[in-house]
Order: sequence, then structure tokens, then C-alpha cells
Amino acid sequence: MVNENFVKVYNSTIVTKSSKDIFFNIHMIENLFSLENNHLYDTCRDKKLLVVISETVHQLYSEKIYKYFKYNFPEDAVRIITIKTTEENKNMDNVLSICKAGKEFGLDRRAFMIGIGGGILLDMVGFAASMYKRKLNYIRIPTTLVGQIDAGIGIKTSVNFRQSKNFIGSYHPPFAVFNDISLLKTLHPEELKCGLAEIIKMGIIVDKELFERIESDKNTLAEQCDEVNKNSYQKINHMAIVDMLNQLVVNFYEDDLERLVDFGHTFSPFIEEFTNYEVKHGLAVAMDIAISTEISYLLGKIDQSSKERILNLILDLGMDIYDSSIYHTDLIYKSLDNVVLHRGNNLNLVIPIQIGEARFIKDKETISKQLLKQACENLEVYQDEFKSKRILFSI
Ligand SMILES: NC(=O)c1ccc[n+]([C@@H]2O[C@H](COP(=O)([O-])OP(=O)(O)OC[C@H]3O[C@@H](n4cnc5c(N)ncnc54)[C@H](O)[C@@H]3O)[C@@H](O)[C@H]2O)c1
Repeated sequence: MVNENFVKVYNSTIVTKSSKDIFFNIHMIENLFSLENNHLYDTCRDKKLLVVISETVHQLYSEKIYKYFKYNFPEDAVRIITIKTTEENKNMDNVLSICKAGKEFGLDRRAFMIGIGGGILLDMVGFAASMYKRKLNYIRIPTTLVGQIDAGIGIKTSVNFRQSKNFIGSYHPPFAVFNDISLLKTLHPEELKCGLAEIIKMGIIVDKELFERIESDKNTLAEQCDEVNKNSYQKINHMAIVDMLNQLVVNFYEDDLERLVDFGHTFSPFIEEFTNYEVKHGLAVAMDIAISTEISYLLGKIDQSSKERILNLILDLGMDIYDSSIYHTDLIYKSLDNVVLHRGNNLNLVIPIQIGEARFIKDKETISKQLLKQACENLEVYQDEFKSKRILFSI
């Protein structure tokens, strides 16, 4: 039987096709907005374009972006708007303001929306495109690491609703994605870490080589995505994207609720909500990876050396595996009920069994409150010892 789902790599383009009639390309193109770079032009020529950018992108790149569109497209074919992109602004009002701008500009059904920004902006532009005249093609140009390896490459769109994250949304595949590594050079190290946590996740669950690459480049990765480590980022991004797409392509609509990519996403919703989203998603994912790994160790599923490599990598990249103000095990344990509800009455906790391989714990009963408590206590000791050693070596 022919396998209709595939992810194929042709030079700098990653082609994704699923049996559910989903087909789009992710183009890894550096300096996308250099005037003579015609990749975006070739994809959008003869289209009317509503370009939506975030305030940050406006501040940092508007001159370049405006010049690019002015140089390559007729003036009446392009309108550029800027929207606010905090989690508070990730709402229907903002999405409708995109639709309104599209209507005022007279976008026809052959037109494109183009989103240039982080995951928040891309989720909103995708949602607006999925509703505008029922369905409009759109292009994603992610400007964060999380956007380039996660939020920008799937088919989910969403807004927050009544204190619940991503509660309303749709599945709407992009027409194309353009990942430009040069846009990451202005990204704050904390935002880079958030993306790195998601990349480490992919390494742990399916790709030992990816994990080892991050291990070998760990000293420079978390600082900046500059000329020095741009190539390292390019390589790990590419690997993580292919790994992610291989997971998504067979399950774009999440019919199967056993998803390996949910590794790091069982305890993290609690951590984010409890801290009122002051702990960023990626950093919460890193903590969740640590908790899940420690649980796996306590259950005898992963050996000590693999566990320590995982914990060390997170800590080496400047992320925490324990926080006394957050790790209230009673509350964390209780939060698992919501996870079970979200995953069709199963916990489906993903735990690593070695680097590059993971399994599910389906039932919540397998994890007792005592086991969770022990895992958190072990992480506290591990982090304290790790940090004391660091101080000792730096003296
Ligand atoms: N649709 C999906 O499948 C999916 C997957 C993962 C995450 N998400 C969503 O994505 C969002 C998180 O995305 P994110 O981490 O990109 O957050 P974000 O969009 O808030 O961007 C993070 C920060 O980086 C800034 N920024 C963006 N580009 C920059 C650049 N090039 N240089 C400097 N600063 C820049 C932003 O202004 C913001 O302050 C969440 O809302 C999450 O729910 C969606």
C-alpha cells in the first residue's frame, strides 16, 4: 500500500503531505527580506496581500519589510498592518480587526494574508484566514524560535478565551511557511531558551542525534542566535522541524490523543497557570520534561545516566528543573484531572525510556501523589547540587 503521508527534504525545502489533503512547504530561506530575494515574491506574485506584523516586528524590521514589499509588489497590492501580540491580546477582537482590515482593503478569495511574528501573531492570523470568507490562503513567517520549530509549522490556529489558553480556534494549514534564521538574531535569550526546550523535547522522544548535537553546542546556543552559532541553530531547527512534521503528518487533526509531542506538556499547563503565565511556556516545558524524566527513573523505565544527561542539558542551557514556589505537589497532582479530560479520559503522560525513545503512561493511577512528590524532591536536590558545583568551579 502506498503511504500517503510523507515529509521529504529537498535542499532547503521541507515538503509535507498528509492523506487528509494537507500539503504545504516550509522554506528555510535566509535574508528573506533582502530586496533581491525573490522567494516570497515568487509565491505571492499577482496576489493581493494583507501583511500582518506584530509591534515588535514593526519596531525591529518594519523598514526592511516595507522596502521589500514596495520594491517587489505594486503599491495597491499590499497593505501592512500592525497588531498587539501579548497573550491578553490573543483574542477574538484582534482577530476580527485583521478580518476588518482585509475587508476594507478588499481582499478577494484569491488573496493571501501573511503573518510575520511569533506564535501569538501566527495563531491569530491563521485563525482570521480560516474565517475570512470561510477560508483564505495565508503564509506564515515565524520570527521566534518557538514559531520556527513549532507554532509556525503545524495547522492549528487559536485565540485565548475566558482565561483559557487557545480555547477557540481552527485547523487551517498555511499555504507556505518561510523560516528565516536571520530574524532570530534579535531574539532575547529567554525566548531562545523557550524554543530550545521544545527542540530538546523532540531529541528526547525521537531523535538521539538531535539531542547529542544540542549537547555538543550547548555552550553557545542559549546566548544568542548570532553569526557564531547561526549554523548550529540552522541544523538543529531543520532536524527538529522534520521530527515534528513526522509526528504531525499522521495526526494533523489530533484524532489520536496519544501524541509523543505532548512530552513536556502534562505538568506545564499547571506551571504556566499557577504563575499567571510569568513562567514562559518553553521554560514550563523544560520543568515538565524534568518531572516526567524523574518519574520515569523512579518507575525504573530510564537509566540513571540517561536521566542525568537530560537534566544536565536543561540546566546547562540555563533553565530550571525545580522551583520551590511552584512545585506544590498536591496542586500539580490535582491539575492532572484537567489533562485527563483534555486527552479523552487518559493521562497519556509521555516519559522517556532512553534518549531518542519514549512511551506513554496511560492511566493516572500509575502515578501516585507520593511518586510525584518524590520526583519533585529529587529534582530539588539535583538542581541544588548542580548549581553548587557550578559556583565551586567558577571560583
Ligand atoms: N499553533 C500551534 O501549533 C502552536 C504551537 C506552539 C505554540 N503556540 C502558541 O504560540 C505562542 C507562543 O509563541 P512564541 O513563543 O513565539 O511567543 P510570542 O509570539 O509571544 O513571541 C515571544 C516574544 O518575542 C518577541 N519577538 C518576536 N519576534 C522577535 C524577533 N525576531 N526579535 C525579537 N523579539 C521578537 C515578541 O514580541 C514576544 O515578546 C503561544 O500563544 C502558544 O499558544 C501555538
